[in-house]
Formats: sequence, C-alpha cells, structure tokens
Amino acid sequence: MSHYFDHSPATPSDPRRVTVVLPDDAFDFRSDRGVFSHGRLDTGTKFLLTDAPEPPRDGVFLDLGCGAGPIALALSRRRPEARVIAIDVNERARQLTADNARHLEITNLEVSAPDDVDESVRFDLIWSNPPIKVGKTELHTMLLKWLDRLAPTGRAVLVVQKNLGSDSLQRWLTAEGFDTARLGSRSGYRLLDVRPRTTP
Ligand SMILES: C[S@@+](CC[C@H](N)C(=O)[O-])C[C@H]1O[C@@H](n2cnc3c(N)ncnc32)[C@H](O)[C@@H]1O
Repeated sequence: MSHYFDHSPATPSDPRRVTVVLPDDAFDFRSDRGVFSHGRLDTGTKFLLTDAPEPPRDGVFLDLGCGAGPIALALSRRRPEARVIAIDVNERARQLTADNARHLEITNLEVSAPDDVDESVRFDLIWSNPPIKVGKTELHTMLLKWLDRLAPTGRAVLVVQKNLGSDSLQRWLTAEGFDTARLGSRSGYRLLDVRPRTTP
C-alpha cells in the first residue's frame, strides 16, 4: 500500500495544478500522486496559511514536511527577506516543491532531505501540517528533533486535525516542556502555537 510519506513513491505521476487564494496573495502550484493532498489545498493547510500569526520579517524558517510546498511557497512569497527551508522524506514531494519554487521565481527557498539540513541551523519559525499518519513514535521523534532546533525566541505553528489527536498532541508537547497553546479551531482542525522547550 502506498502512503504520502513514502520516500520514493512508485505510484504513476498525474500532475494537477492547485490554486491557492489567501487574503494577501494568490498563486498556483503543481501537485502529484504519491504526495499529500493531490489536486487540492488541504483544509488544515489553508487554515494555517490564513490564521497563523504574522511571521517575523526575516530569519530562518522551516516548513516541516513540505509535500508539494504550499506552506513553504506562501511563506517565501510573504517574507522575501527570510531564508525558508522546506524538508520532506518523500523525494517526489521535494522535487515538486523545488519545481514549484522555480516556476514562481522564488529565490529564498531551499528544499532539502531532512538529514541534509546543516546541524547548526536554528529556526526562528517552524510551520507544519505534520504527518500524523506516520504513527505516534515516528511523529514524536520527528517533532522533538526539529522543535529542539527552535531559536530561543522562535515559535512553531502546527495544524492538526482534532480527530487525529490534536488535543493529546498538545498535552504531550506540554509534558515534554514545550509551552503549547491553542491559537484557534476551525473545521475540525486545531492551530497549535509551540514555544521552545523550557525544561530539558
Ligand atoms: C500532512 S503532509 C503536509 C504536506 C504539505 N506541507 C501540505 O500542507 O500540503 C506531511 C508531510 O510530512 C512528510 N514527512 C513524513 N515524515 C517526515 C519526516 N520524518 N521528516 C520530514 N517530513 C516528513 C510527508 O512525506 C508529508 O509530505
């Protein structure tokens, strides 16, 4: 069975264009089979893009689990002074994000495999629609790895479906020492605001 988080999707390609319309921007990007949310913008992603607090003017930003790139593309366009890094385990997703950035003439977005990001980089902002379906153990390992690389004044904004465990994820993050607040709730999704860990 194939999943959107496969590293090398075997499912045949079937590219489709998706239009993103936000209060401050509109753009098209290409999606494909074997990558999350083929042919449409995910409802949770749209919620994050419209309702997350304004990003800082500049700094280093991470799109954790970029898929075809809607979050990274929107962030790079909104903050051309920032350095945006988009990572994904799925190589078709990485290729799509890079192609979409080129097509939109975005020059401040880097696409990378997770293991290829320089260990010394710290993030002023992480935006993510995380891959809940990979299972709790893998999800938690991934979140700890990247949330522990928030700069001291950084923040992460995560969008998580309520019926996929947003409230228990919020409790787990808090228990791990990350001050985590619910910023909003819409259409069955929660927007979580996560601050750097205050306890080891
Ligand atoms: C829910 S999708 C969101 C995709 C995209 N950001 C969007 O909003 O349309 C989560 C993404 O995380 C990726 N992913 C899964 N495990 C990962 C990991 N360990 N590190 C980075 N990305 C991962 C999946 O391949 C998938 O593309």
